[in-house]
Amino acid sequence: MTMPDPMPEPVPAATPVAKNAISAKPGPFTVETVLAVKHFTDRLFSFRITRPASFRFRSGEFVMIGLPKEDGKPLLRAYSIASPFWDEALDFYSIKVADGPLTSRLQHIQPGDEVLLGRKPTGTLVLDALKPGKRLYMISTGTGIAPFASLIRDPETYEKFDEVILTHTCRQNAELTYGEELVAATRADELIGEMASEKLVHFTSVTRDEGPVKGRVTDMMNTGELYTRLGVPALDPATDRVMICGSEGLLKDVKQICLDHNFIEGSNAAPADFVIEKAFVATD
Ligand SMILES: Cc1cc2nc3c(=O)[nH]c(=O)nc-3n(C[C@H](O)[C@H](O)[C@H](O)COP(=O)(O)OP(=O)(O)OC[C@H]3O[C@@H](n4cnc5c(N)ncnc54)[C@H](O)[C@@H]3O)c2cc1C
Ligand SMILES: NC(=O)c1ccc[n+]([C@@H]2O[C@H](COP(=O)([O-])OP(=O)(O)OC[C@H]3O[C@@H](n4cnc5c(N)ncnc54)[C@H](OP(=O)(O)O)[C@@H]3O)[C@@H](O)[C@H]2O)c1
Repeated sequence: MTMPDPMPEPVPAATPVAKNAISAKPGPFTVETVLAVKHFTDRLFSFRITRPASFRFRSGEFVMIGLPKEDGKPLLRAYSIASPFWDEALDFYSIKVADGPLTSRLQHIQPGDEVLLGRKPTGTLVLDALKPGKRLYMISTGTGIAPFASLIRDPETYEKFDEVILTHTCRQNAELTYGEELVAATRADELIGEMASEKLVHFTSVTRDEGPVKGRVTDMMNTGELYTRLGVPALDPATDRVMICGSEGLLKDVKQICLDHNFIEGSNAAPADFVIEKAFVATD
């Protein structure tokens, strides 16, 4: 005998999600409040949000950040946490993609607005995934500097390495401002300033503007110009460790340079000589 179909549940009318009115149902994310927003260029901004007391992460990890869609469902994207683990709030550094589903809206957030924060930070760009070494390179392009904004303010980074070299390459000079302000603030910081002033080196270059140093970091690694400018010996797995964050092209090219120098890729399960994390997935 065939049972008749049960009556369908009545579908509730879609209710538009009002600003500041995200439902705080228990789920894979929490609802946090925007504390501050700073715009750097027409394509880059940073924002600070409240941090739940239970939210723990390791420096260099990423988490899902989002806003509710028209239908109330969450629209989430991966974001590197750009603040140190000891900070009371959470910082993020973001691109603005004009037709990006999330950032076309996220770029308009204001203090007091609400955003969604995933409960489970994760990632491989962590100190635990690297074997001990002398010198740590953090190679970044564009918003790929974000996880390093966390790592350069973690005391463990300086306890584990004698020298910490943060490289940041962007198309234009204005895109370096976030990193320049970050490093200046880190060197002036009460907790971490002394260690950072002693050990942190900030190397910047631009590729489509005139600047003190022009060119891709990969080209400068291949020619040796990077090491000459820094006054350090060429890359060596006996002493150096490398973290890479940027576009897929950057990851591929720096990974190849590391492999050519006999570096082994590390992971949380098997710490080794270098680790990588995408800053975004390119479509063009
Ligand atoms: C592990 C991981 C960590 C990430 N951390 C960050 C972060 O800290 N800050 C951040 O801004 N983004 C980060 N992203 C990218 C982020 O998840 C989103 O792609 C970005 O917020 C744009 O979302 P969207 O919905 O507006 O557009 P999407 O549909 O996600 O992206 C549209 C296109 O925009 C371009 N794009 C996306 N993100 C970037 C970017 N960051 N820089 C340059 N071009 C980009 C790409 O061509 C992409 O295909 C990360 C991605 C991954 C995988
Ligand atoms: N930045 C802008 O002004 C701008 C404007 C409009 C649209 N977009 C779009 O936004 C997306 C991201 O732009 P973005 O500037 O943030 O990121 P990006 O294209 O990854 O460039 C950031 C920096 O990384 C360098 N780079 C790229 N690939 C590399 C590689 N394989 N090895 C070493 N260095 C590498 C770039 O040099 P090169 O300059 O040599 O590539 C640039 O200096 C792109 O899809 C782009 O088309 C960007």
